[in-house]
Amino acid sequence: MHLLGTELLEAREILPGQWLQTYHAPELATGSRAGQFVHVRTGDLSGLVLRRPFSIHTLDAATGTITIHFRTVGRGTEWFTHLRPGDNVDMLGPLGRPFEVDPRSQHLLLIAGGLGMAGVRALADEAIRAGRQVTLLFGAASARDVYPTSLLPDEVEYVVATDDGSMGHHGFVTDLLPRYEAWADQAFACGPEPMLQALARLAATRRSRMGVAKLGRKRGAGKGHAVGSPLARRKAFLQVSMEQRMGCAIGACLGCVVMATSGVPQRVCREGPVFASEEIDWEGAWGR
Ligand code: FES
Repeated sequence: MHLLGTELLEAREILPGQWLQTYHAPELATGSRAGQFVHVRTGDLSGLVLRRPFSIHTLDAATGTITIHFRTVGRGTEWFTHLRPGDNVDMLGPLGRPFEVDPRSQHLLLIAGGLGMAGVRALADEAIRAGRQVTLLFGAASARDVYPTSLLPDEVEYVVATDDGSMGHHGFVTDLLPRYEAWADQAFACGPEPMLQALARLAATRRSRMGVAKLGRKRGAGKGHAVGSPLARRKAFLQVSMEQRMGCAIGACLGCVVMATSGVPQRVCREGPVFASEEIDWEGAWGR
């Protein structure tokens, strides 16, 4: 983890209220992995105290740049939209634990809802570079909120669902999972809580619905791995990146805790944001 001064190189609004910002941050570009995030400080004159967490949308080691993707939801994120190329902000990162791909997995299914694209987007690049096949299922309220195809690598199969049917499948992105789960060796998701819960339910019944586990996961099945361990994630069919309000993002304030099936509370900023879906107690995760 580094505390770095970074320079904004480019900012653009890619969808109404959604921004991509590219920063020169060589240490983060070379030292971060898909699924991790940065905690970014607003400027001294903003009057805002808390840093803002942003998923690392893409990273480019060759140019020493990382790009963040965010939606304006309040004064903090609004402040970032007024930055101009050449402006500096300080970033803490990389934070959190990344997605873990089983080395045997060739077919990766990525599932994103809305701004959840920010959480899985870098994994598409990593997977394509490693010679894997990627299908990305994306859900949005309507066509005006659909992440542009032009921002994805050509190799990615991109399938869209919209709530109002204005583009792609008419319905929820979760409706699409049964069409692809037999193809997929592993799935990786980021998005709103109901979407992740629905996917976790489908993943939990996958073996009984499909008959057999892929990738010979019968060997070693049942062996427990510590919650949050890379092995627990690597052997899971579904990994989820949790979106949670964060205060400190370094594990100190306990403001981002969710409950694990083990009964041990998990800090999304430290033990997550990526978990194996079966590690999360979905009924009790948000204290209900
Ligand atoms: S945000 Fe403070 S412990 Fe996670």
